[in-house]
Amino acid sequence: MICKTVNLCKEDLRSLKALLWNYLYHLLRRYNGIEHEKYIEYVIEILKTSSFESKKHILILAKHSAKTDGLIMLKKLDWDFRYFGIPMGRIEYLIANGAYQKSVNIKIRLLRTLFQECKCENVRHLTARVDIEDISSIHALEETGFKLMTTEHIGIIDKKSSQFLQIKPVNGLIIRKFRKSDLAEIVKIGKDISSSVYSRFAFDPGLRFDKSRRYYIKVTQNIYSYADRIFVGVKDNKIIGFIAYKLFDELFTKIIKRKMAFVVLGGILSSQRRKGIGTFIFGNADRFLLKEVDAIMGRVYLHNIPMFEFIKKQRDVYQSLTIQHCFHKFLE
Ligand SMILES: CC(C)(COP(=O)(O)OP(=O)(O)OC[C@H]1O[C@@H](n2cnc3c(N)ncnc32)[C@H](O)[C@@H]1OP(=O)(O)O)[C@@H](O)C(=O)NCCC(=O)NCCS
Repeated sequence: MICKTVNLCKEDLRSLKALLWNYLYHLLRRYNGIEHEKYIEYVIEILKTSSFESKKHILILAKHSAKTDGLIMLKKLDWDFRYFGIPMGRIEYLIANGAYQKSVNIKIRLLRTLFQECKCENVRHLTARVDIEDISSIHALEETGFKLMTTEHIGIIDKKSSQFLQIKPVNGLIIRKFRKSDLAEIVKIGKDISSSVYSRFAFDPGLRFDKSRRYYIKVTQNIYSYADRIFVGVKDNKIIGFIAYKLFDELFTKIIKRKMAFVVLGGILSSQRRKGIGTFIFGNADRFLLKEVDAIMGRVYLHNIPMFEFIKKQRDVYQSLTIQHCFHKFLE
């Protein structure tokens, strides 16, 4: 039986624990700061909250008597909806029991039920990120009409390894915390990023290309309300680069007992690239933030060669966690 779930009951929670225990592909599985059991506890709390907040999420379980054989959870994306003018959602979890074929079958059924629910709730565009090794999810997504947009590398820098960052001083360059009055200069760098890198949206032929191309400009315009920590690099009284981070939610810190952040966006003015400035600003900002948090995670599109090469240069410091494919689908 496949059913939309509101308010998970005790029995659901018990059987979800068994399902998640065998889940192999969680994002932080290679990061030795995280215990699998604690991570499951965290995911269950997220699912519990999502089942109560049914206006913001859709949670669907595949059940066989009292046993949960699979689940799919979608988060509605209000910001993306406002920007693109299309109601959007992201599949946060797609998990099923069993060997390849059984798992694919359950996932296809979960996805088709999700599509019906999305139609009822007027969600029209879906994103799904899946681990490169999670073949049953990849094939279920392909079978149900999802299209590959790009692939992302996920890496992490830990407090302990920050001392190994290779940062050379750059004449006259300092970093400091962001001030509200810096916004216009950050947006200028957002324009530079937009003209040098395609976001995943720019590969989606169903979305308006002019909007997708300006995506990073919009992100920088909103950076102050979204990011928790922002650092800027200043030379000759001019901002020539920035990096913005968001802290993981409090629930994560409470259960996992680790304080973590992820990179929202960073960039260097195009006229100032290849002079060691990115290394200086990002490296010093990471070091500074790592006094407050245990680790920082970052995503890089594999098509973003400069950024990927940049990360590779510090390969002793940035540990590779995993690679994820990113799919999109429009619902008719
Ligand atoms: C990636 C980026 C931050 C690099 O900044 P930078 O100031 O040019 O970086 P650095 O000069 O410190 O370069 C350090 C190393 O990174 C690598 N690197 C940087 N840019 C590179 C490029 N275009 N091609 C190949 N390697 C590159 C090199 O190994 C370089 O060392 P080297 O110059 O000694 O060979 C910059 O290109 C940028 O702002 N890009 C757009 C921002 C962006 O993509 N944001 C993310 C959107 S998801």
